Amino acid sequence: MRSNGWWRTAAIYQIYLRSFADGNGDGVGDLAGLRARLPYLRELGVDALWLTPWNVSPMADGGYDVADYRDIDPLFGTLADAEGFLAEAHEQGLRVLVDLVPNHCSDAHPWFRAALAAPPGDPARERFWFRPGRGAGGELPPNDWRSYFGGPAWTRLPDGEWYLHMFAPQQPELNWEHEGVRAEFADVLRFWFDRGVDGFRIDVAHGLMKTPGLPDVGADPDPADLPYQDHEGVHEIYRAWRRIADGYADPRVFVGEVWLPTTAQFVRYLRPDELHSAFNFEFLCCAWEPNAIRKTIDDTLDTHRLVGAPPTWVLSNHDTIRHVTRYGREDTTFDLGNRRHGAFTDPALGTRRARAAALLTLALPGGVYVYQGDELGLAEVEDIPLERIQDPTWERSEHTDRGRDGCRVPLPWSGGEPPFGFSPPGAAQPWLPQPAGWSALTVEAQEPDASSMLRLYRQALAIRRERLTTLPEDIAWIAGDDGVLAFRRGDGFACVVNFTAAPARLPAHADVLLTSEPLRDGLLPADGSAWLAL
Ligand code: NOJ
Repeated sequence: MRSNGWWRTAAIYQIYLRSFADGNGDGVGDLAGLRARLPYLRELGVDALWLTPWNVSPMADGGYDVADYRDIDPLFGTLADAEGFLAEAHEQGLRVLVDLVPNHCSDAHPWFRAALAAPPGDPARERFWFRPGRGAGGELPPNDWRSYFGGPAWTRLPDGEWYLHMFAPQQPELNWEHEGVRAEFADVLRFWFDRGVDGFRIDVAHGLMKTPGLPDVGADPDPADLPYQDHEGVHEIYRAWRRIADGYADPRVFVGEVWLPTTAQFVRYLRPDELHSAFNFEFLCCAWEPNAIRKTIDDTLDTHRLVGAPPTWVLSNHDTIRHVTRYGREDTTFDLGNRRHGAFTDPALGTRRARAAALLTLALPGGVYVYQGDELGLAEVEDIPLERIQDPTWERSEHTDRGRDGCRVPLPWSGGEPPFGFSPPGAAQPWLPQPAGWSALTVEAQEPDASSMLRLYRQALAIRRERLTTLPEDIAWIAGDDGVLAFRRGDGFACVVNFTAAPARLPAHADVLLTSEPLRDGLLPADGSAWLAL
């Protein structure tokens, strides 16, 4: 039977902790900064927060390299701070999801340290993927797999063995065939659930199991059949986790980061006894073009219906190009393998489309994700000086891909110059430099401006909560002019998006609830969207 849990309709705000708000003045966001800004999030009108990793980490990959899964990194605070934050978020009516990184840990994790200290063949190495190399002297990697960050997926040790890492060398892959690994993560889930965490976002959810024998992928691999992702065995892991989550009186939830090429593969993670939901990357990657958007929406609804999972909608996250920038380019798609840094961008066009997209995603059935700064209309920062770049992608790609820092720049809260209220007065510089032009985009600057992105998000989230979250999980398309998409939710609400370059007529309606651009003579301007009461 379909559950009516809060997560089916939640608006979830993604906190990239390092860049949200700095409480202690070291130039890096932390729990104290986040706690102080909880009233902002409550006022924004979101239902839940998802925090990117907060565990102890050397930060080789922004915390996605965990050295202790049961403690908080000192950059962010202490375990007591985390508990205090959870209690306060709950008091303010906000649920909290945190990131779980089960595919790999840090090379500073005690397990990996013990593995390195042990000789080849020692059981301490069995929690990871250690293998002898190929070639006469074992000088070649054990197979031809490539790291997602560039370069080989294997690193050789002085004793001659190689270990597997699908991301940076500081992120050794865990061996999920090992019972000890499974038991450890089951315990980690309980550790945080017992402290009040409402759920987990699961990093690289498709990657935990590998095809036995670790076969080569060859020169022209089929992206839907890779030996390091979407192995059948992964589903058993999520069934076991689901039983743990369902064992709590207020059941806890999982959202999967499932990047897979086909929806047939994707949807299997959302079967009723597996993950509750997953990010809709097909939508995130889709061009801002009416036929493509309509098809993606239909596919999404059809696929999720098969398994009774709620659809989700996401425009940006900490791994992508901010959509204000993406939608201002000629090619508005997103491709993880080619971020097209420096492509010509029309920021005004990108911003108009981002406003329209905000109303589109907030009108659709299911859950929706807002990445911090979406609500301020932040663009990708494309001119971070190369010597300030922190993302390991930059080094691993041999300086061909600047990576993801451009969407991770600390938020502008107030004032006319950096750090724009991100840190307290007298603090260290923010860990990534903020553009001077962000003075016009601070929360303080946008609050009094009725036409600002922030005000649009606040109004839309309030209307969504009041009118849309109790409606059935489907839509009905309304026939109309070419290049204009319109759909109904129930009998009383419609959303219209004008993808054309000319003003468009609105379908029959009783009232206009909200528009992304002011109507002109009753027409919806180019790149505009509207919410209507019918
Ligand atoms: C996905 C995360 O979102 C990304 O930031 C990270 O680099 C990789 N997984 C590896 O953990």
